[in-house]
Amino acid sequence: LASIEVDVSSLQPGMSLTAKWRGKPVFIRNRTDKEVEDAKAVPLEELKDPVARNANLAPDAEATDLDRSAGQGKENWIVMIGSCTHLGCVPLGQAGDFGGWFCPCHGSHYDTAGRIRKGPAPENLPVPTFTFVSDTVIKIG
Ligand code: FES
Repeated sequence: LASIEVDVSSLQPGMSLTAKWRGKPVFIRNRTDKEVEDAKAVPLEELKDPVARNANLAPDAEATDLDRSAGQGKENWIVMIGSCTHLGCVPLGQAGDFGGWFCPCHGSHYDTAGRIRKGPAPENLPVPTFTFVSDTVIKIG
């Protein structure tokens, strides 16, 4: 299927689900306010990969928390392809030194915006093309 629709109505803040799209896991998380604040507090100079890697934005968009998220008014939502940018393992959620995702294969740590912060992975977890078709349904692809 070229695109899928995912019902996220059951996701309270702090809850995630993993959808499957084009054979890959897609992480959808309703982030807590603290997770958003933690990500916003990180200066861009500290990021290993300063590019948003968000298919919905320009290729050179910066990796601010807003541009990693679903955007203004929906900053609590993050949608990412769950494939480590090192060698493609599936990272674990709410794990690692930055409270985001952790890839156990070779130890890559991603923050609460899915940005690579430590370890061998070169890039932030990619954000696929997606849109909210209603308040509770996300269309991916
Ligand atoms: Fe994730 Fe190597 S595949 S750290």
